[in-house]
Parts: sequence; C-alpha cells; structure tokens
Amino acid sequence: MTDPRARHQDLVQQIEQHRAAYYGDDAPTVSDAEYDALERDLRALEAEYPELAEPDSPTQTVGSAGVATGFATVKHRERMMSLDNAFSLEDVAAWLARVGKEAGDHELVCEPKIDGLSISLTYIDGELTQGLTRGDGTQGEDVTANVRTIRGVPRRLNGKHLPNLVEVRGEVYLPIKDFEALNEALLADGKAPYANPRNTAAGSLRQKDSTVTASRPLAVTTYALGALDWGDTAPDPRLALQSGIYQVLTDWGLPVSEHAKVLRGIGDIEAYLRELEAKRHSLVHEIDGAVLKVNDRAVQRSLGNTSRAPRWAIAYKFPPEEVHTTLEDIRVDVGRTGRVTPYGVMAPVTVAGSTVTYATLHNAHEVKRKGVLIGDTVVLRKAGDVIPEIVGPVIAARTGAERAWTMPTRCPSCGSVLAEQKAGDKDLRCPNSEFCPAQITHRIAFIGSRGALDVEVLGDKAAAAMVESGVLANEAELFDLTEEDLRRVPMFVYEVDEKITKKQADAGVVGRQAGDVGENGRKLIANLALAREQPLWRVVVSLSIRHVGPTASRALAAAFGTMGAIRAASVDELAAVEGVGPTIAESVRQWFDVPWHANIVDRWAAAGVRMADERDDSTPQTLAGLTIVATGSLEGFTRDEVKEAIVAHGGKASSSVSKATDYVVVGANAGSKADKAERLGVRILDEPQFVRLLEHGVSAV
Ligand code: IVH
Repeated sequence: MTDPRARHQDLVQQIEQHRAAYYGDDAPTVSDAEYDALERDLRALEAEYPELAEPDSPTQTVGSAGVATGFATVKHRERMMSLDNAFSLEDVAAWLARVGKEAGDHELVCEPKIDGLSISLTYIDGELTQGLTRGDGTQGEDVTANVRTIRGVPRRLNGKHLPNLVEVRGEVYLPIKDFEALNEALLADGKAPYANPRNTAAGSLRQKDSTVTASRPLAVTTYALGALDWGDTAPDPRLALQSGIYQVLTDWGLPVSEHAKVLRGIGDIEAYLRELEAKRHSLVHEIDGAVLKVNDRAVQRSLGNTSRAPRWAIAYKFPPEEVHTTLEDIRVDVGRTGRVTPYGVMAPVTVAGSTVTYATLHNAHEVKRKGVLIGDTVVLRKAGDVIPEIVGPVIAARTGAERAWTMPTRCPSCGSVLAEQKAGDKDLRCPNSEFCPAQITHRIAFIGSRGALDVEVLGDKAAAAMVESGVLANEAELFDLTEEDLRRVPMFVYEVDEKITKKQADAGVVGRQAGDVGENGRKLIANLALAREQPLWRVVVSLSIRHVGPTASRALAAAFGTMGAIRAASVDELAAVEGVGPTIAESVRQWFDVPWHANIVDRWAAAGVRMADERDDSTPQTLAGLTIVATGSLEGFTRDEVKEAIVAHGGKASSSVSKATDYVVVGANAGSKADKAERLGVRILDEPQFVRLLEHGVSAV
C-alpha cells in the first residue's frame, strides 16, 4: 500500500476496531504490543503527511466512542486523557529533553503504570456520587453502582477541609493472586479460565448486576485529579505538587501507589525504571510500565496538553510479555518416564526478550481446555523467568482454515498403545519403558544432565545419536562404552582425514583418519569415567525412578548409605525416611522389583559406578542396627546434622516413630512424636544422652 491516504485510512480503521474491542465487551484481537505498533505507524505517517492528521484521528483521541453498552453515558467534567508512550530509555531521554531545558531539569514523580482500566470518581461535599469509565475521554459509562462495591473506594472522604467537588482519577485492577484464585476455582468447576487480570477487571466492572462485581475482589489505585472546586475555601496548598496530590489523596482515605518516588536526573530515573522492571512480578497488580510526571504543577500547566495526552507525563512501556503468533503445529514428545506431552510449534516470536518457538501444552486435556486449533493465532505469554505459555486462541482472528488436533493413541516413537497409568490420570504414557527409543534416549540424556551425573557432552543429541546407531540399547550399557563403540556413531567420528603439514608428516605425526573418534567422543568417554565417582544420591537420581528427584535421592542416600540398602528396603522402611512419603517409597520399591531395572544397577556397579557413599572409617559404628528418630530442637545439632550424625555412626535416621524405633531423641518444643514414643514405650533420650550414645554405643545409656 503506497498511497499514504489509503494507508492512513487502513491504519485508522484497524485502530478503531481494536479500540472498540478493548473498551467494549469483545475480547481484544491484537496484543497490546501490536496495537502500540499500529499507533506508532500512524503517528509516523502523520508526521510525514501532516494534512492527514485530522482532529478525529486516533492519534488525537483516546478510548472508543462507538461502544453501545447499556450503561448511561455521562460527560466528564474534565476530560480524561491518555498518555504518550516511550519504548526505550532513549525515548525517555528525548522526552526529558523536551520538557526541560536540559534532560533532568525537573523533579519527576515516577510510579508504576498499572495495567487495569481507568476510572473517574466524583465526590461532592466528600460523598461519592458517581463512578465513570473513561469512554472516549469526553464521556464515559456510569458504573456508579458497581464502583460502590469496590472495597478500596471510600463512600465518604476523610477530613474536614474538603472540596465542594472533585473528580479523582485512578485505575481499577484485580490483584494477581485474586485473579489466580478466581481461575483456579473456575478450572475446578470445569469452566474456562480468564485470559488475564485486566480483562477480568474490565469484565467485572462492566457487569449489569453489581452483586457480580461485588463478588470480585477489585481494587483501585488513584493518581490524578480532574475537575476540582474548593468553593470559598482555600485549596490545599500541597496540591502545588504532583507528589502533594498523593499526600492529599492519602489523607482523604484513597489508595495511592506505595512505589511512587520523586526523582531528578536521567541516572536516577533509569535506575528506578530498571528496578521497577526487575520487581514487576512481585507487585500485587500487573504493570505494563512506569509513568513519569513532572512534579511541579505550575510547570505541568505551562507545558499543557496535546489533544489526547499531557505533555508533562509519559508512559515508559516495558517489553511486552504477551504477544500473538501462529500455532503452526501441535506435536507430542515422549519423556523419560513415558509421559506423552503435547507441545505447540509456533512461528518464532520475541517475547520478554527471548525468541520462542515451542511451548508445552502439558496434556490433551489442556489442549482441549485452551481450545486451540492448529493454524490459530494464539496469545503467547512469557512472564519473567516463567516458561512460555500458550494462553489461548484469538477467536476473532480465525479464518476457518484452522483444524482440530487429536491426541495420538499410539506412541510416536515405538508404536505402543498409550494409556493412563491409573484411572483418572490426566497424562497418557507409553508403557514400553524398556524398549521405547524415545524414553531410552531421554533417560540417557537425563543421566548426563546437571542435576544427575553431570556428564559434559552427554546431552539430547549425543543420546539420540548413540541410540539411533544401535551402540546403546539402553542405559545399562552406558558405563561400558568404549572409544571403539563410538566409531559406529557418526556424530563422534571424523568425516575426512585430518590435514597435516608436510613438516608434521616428516616429523612422524599421524593425522586423524576418517572414521577415527574425534575430540567430543574422547571427552564423553573421559567424562563418563569421572561420573563413576559422583556421590550416591546423583546415581539414584540418574535411575529415572518416578517421583524420585534430587531431594528424595539425597534423603535416601543419607538414610541408607548404599544402593544395596535402598534396594533391599521395604516400602515401610523407605517411607520412614524424612522427605520420602508413601508415594515415593512405593515407586522406589516397584522400580527395583523390575528385573531389567535391577540389571541397570548391576551393570553400572560392575562398570565401577559408585554405589555407596564413603564413610569415614574413623567414625565408630556405635549405632549399627539402630533406628533413631530425633524431634524438637537440639542445641548442638541442626535437623540435618542430627540425621547425618546418626547415619555416620551406622544408624538409621527415621522421621516417624513406630514400634520398630529404638530411640527417640527429644529436644526443646518436641511435639506429638515424643508423646507417641511414650505411648509405644520407645526409649526416650535427651541431648546429652544422645551424645553419649553416639560416642560409646548402647551400653552408655
Ligand atoms: S496518569 C493525565 N498514572 O494508563 C494523566 N495513568 O495509557 C492521566 N494508567 O489512561 C494518566 N497507571 O488509565 C496515570 N500511574 C498512572 C497510571 C495511569 C495506569 C493508565 C491510565 C491512562 C493510561 C494511559
């Protein structure tokens, strides 16, 4: 589209459509970031062709006029404005240069930009008389009945010296934790969850039935004044400053942001913006940026407004955490425990600073619940460090060409029929754990991972290459691998002869030949040799026993000391270990009872993998054969240290008292375990007695 007028018309039409959806009852069809980009394009076009910038252009107006809603429309006494945006620190610096003679000339109030919806509250003689949405900025919707149900909005202002009339402007929002609780309740009821707190807050405020609004824990933060009439009394002098407005609002009993700060100079402002962005996820509400406002209201007045926004304020927008992209496919992955997980393959998109192509969809129920189709435009969300999530489809963007996805009934790797492990499970699993290549590959790669044996080179690619080439049938053989074996794995061998100089050749140097094992392969063999020396708990983690992660593995290794003892333990003995519940105990017992599992352990042991934690031989095994429970707090030991001492002296540290318990060590503030010991007649020791037991054995107590 080259004709600027046609391009202008097209942009205006798009923006107006999106505004109508955003402010009306429809769900938005584009992300905030895309909307901002359209506005930016329009602004740039109008800068180039000023004749296109007519007064009704979206660059000159705010909100949406064309929304029919059923609420009465009421004129604002003073117009509600929008804010211009800055998308970078350079934009902020440029704005600062515009408002001051030099950047940083003015004192600024810096505060969070709350991602909610703006509200105007009218107080006449201190009484709340009206609540209006922003609407098109000139007139809004009368949502007074609903506003009255918001807990943070006082019906009457505090104080004696009050204006005859004041419009207080602020933002209505739904706190994140209430949003999450609301969604959890909806999910538990089998209903579709809400997309985000802002839409939920908007939907809640615009309810025809105010009892529905009352049931939603909406909150408000106030940050500006509109019309203000003090009658014959003198205005509060603090209102000469923006920061003073917040003091006055606070005195009146209205909530203001606790994060607002008065700053001066680009350095401090940049530091504030970085700090706010770093903690954006720990605030009670969502924020999409910061607002910077000139503090001196006389300067505000002299700077004035454009038709839609004040020149004395700017919104600094954080990089978007929600973007739109196309869901190109849904595929499934078979994990190391056989769990079959659908995941979305998307057109690569940047969100929160990283490029995302894949996002897990967890299980078939989730795909159904989210209602996504292959080919859909989807909302992708990546909040901070959280893994990217497909929130849901943009229904309005559907073309009819999308198609539904169905969960495969057979394992894509080995063809086995997928099944739930037990009735009611959400996950489907491939039951062929012994032979399924995908499961074997993931298990082998997992052994190499940081949380397990930490073997450099042994990642997904290497594991897949060794399984595909037939060098490894399963993980039992892993520690028997030789360089000779790796010659059969294409990824580990030289493809062509190494080039050496004539001088080297004359000196007797023999270059590597095609087919020789390269650097990586030799590294793998060397690293596997080192991995044999890893502590017992890491070996336990590496077995990929369901529910047995690092915490449970550490607990098992500490309590039993050897693989043999873990393997020989009964479910009760396993479950008695602190940090090992009945589910884990059952899972461990069942795992060792499978012959090919036991074979893994035997083969590893034969290959020299460490199967016992080294004990200090100088420690007398005074507690050999004894099961001891410690409860309450001791003076000379932390909880972990007691257990370590028991295990180091050959005893078993247990967390629950039973008839099989030999001694219960009771410290300060001991609870029910001491009572139970008494009931069962188990011998109770105080701390000095326990120390004697450690040092000299049973005869000493
Ligand atoms: S001041 C005359 N301060 O952002 C200045 N607005 O994108 C009026 N918003 O319409 C706005 N947090 O709904 C201001 N701390 C804050 C804000 C804030 C959120 C909203 C407000 C405004 C929109 C502009």
